[in-house]
This record gives sequence, structure tokens and C-alpha cells, in this order.
Amino acid sequence: MSLDWRSYPLSTWDKGRFFHNRACPPSPASGDTEYMDTVHYQALEVLYSRQQIAERVAEMGAQITRDLSGEKLVMVGVLKGAAPFLADLARAVQVDATFDFVATSSYGKGLRSSGAVKLIKDLDEPIEGKNVLLVEDILDTGLTLSYLRKLFLQQHPKTLRIATLLDKPSRRIEKIEPDYVGFSIPNLFVIGYGMDYAERYRNLPDICLMTPDHPE
Ligand code: IMP
Ligand code: MG
Repeated sequence: MSLDWRSYPLSTWDKGRFFHNRACPPSPASGDTEYMDTVHYQALEVLYSRQQIAERVAEMGAQITRDLSGEKLVMVGVLKGAAPFLADLARAVQVDATFDFVATSSYGKGLRSSGAVKLIKDLDEPIEGKNVLLVEDILDTGLTLSYLRKLFLQQHPKTLRIATLLDKPSRRIEKIEPDYVGFSIPNLFVIGYGMDYAERYRNLPDICLMTPDHPE
């Protein structure tokens, strides 16, 4: 199934805000009503551009490389949101690394968390005695990462560190201290670079703000 770029805000095409590295979609033929239907979409505000993300991820990678000082590493991504971050972070980390992935119960289809966390997909390989880096897109209430941290510690890894691209400290319910934080943000709902709203927008290359009045 091909992506329909017409479902993105019209103004982002006009300004080339998101797609300046891509071929622009063709101009609409006059009377193209399907195209005109997208006019009601609002512009998405960019919170962190792909360049800002790349620079910060490079810094995080350098720090992790220093901290691991030649040791092996298992990078564990939390599906699905952490996938782009893990892919970029892994290439910024100069250590002998392997990947694994877990999935927890999702945030649901709206802006609010259900509160309960359950494991949907477990690790493929045991982590006992290994250096583990838990990689998450965004740390919000802390429920997901505290749950995973507790679960992983039961397996007695050699070390367990947490890297999150975004952190919303004001939303915290469960106390958890990430070792590496890309950006600390206020209580905003963000999309892009892996993060979704009802499973959409994960492939936006920038991190954008989801405004309450944005059409679903
Ligand atoms: P926590 O368990 O409340 O810390 O939630 C973490 C998960 O909620 C993240 O991995 C995201 O999947 C999701 N989440 C939290 N805030 C946002 C947001 O602003 N945009 C998209 N997903 C979010
Ligand atoms: Mg997530």
C-alpha cells in the first residue's frame, strides 16, 4: 500500500517544512476535489527538526560509547515508537551492539494512557549478565519504563541503562531516572520520528506538536 502524502497538511507542502528533502507532490489539477478535501488540515508545528534530532542523537551516542568503554551492548527498543530512534542511536554508538525489541500495551487510540502496562512481546534472547540499554521514544508517566525496568532486573543483566529521546518530567507517576535524555519537554503531545497519534504520523521526519484542534 502506498502512502498518500495528500493526507498531510497542505501548508507543509507549500512551505516545504517537512518535505524539503523529498520530491514535492504534484500540484493539484484544478477541480481535483480529492486534493481540495485536504485543505481543512492545519499546519503541524515542528518542535525538533530532523537536524536537531540528528545532532542530539549523535551526542547521546558519543556519551553511551564513552560509558560502555569497549563493552558489548544489547539495545532493547520499545515497539513501535522507539524504532527510528533506536536505528539512529545504534549507528551513533561505537560499540559491539545487538538489537532486541519488546512491546507493551499501547497508549490506546487517543491522547491519554490507560494506566495499565502489560507485555505484548517479550525479549527474544536472555539478558542475564549483559549490558542492556533500554531505548524508548518518550518517557511520560514512567509506568512503561518502570514496569520494563523491574521485569529486566529480574533477569540479572550486568548493567541496565535507559535512553529516552524525550522526557516529560511533569507527567511522572512512577519515579524513574533515565540515564540518557535527548530533550526534556513540558506536557505537550508530540508526533513524528516514531511517535504516533492513533498509529499515524510515525514516519514524519521531524518531531511535531499535536494541537488539540488538529483533525483526527
Ligand atoms: P508512559 O508509560 O506514560 O511513560 O508512556 C510512555 C509511552 O506513551 C510512550 O512510549 C509513548 O508510546 C506514549 N506517549 C507518551 N506521550 C506521548 C506523546 O506525546 N506522543 C505520542 N506518544 C506518547
Ligand atoms: Mg512508546
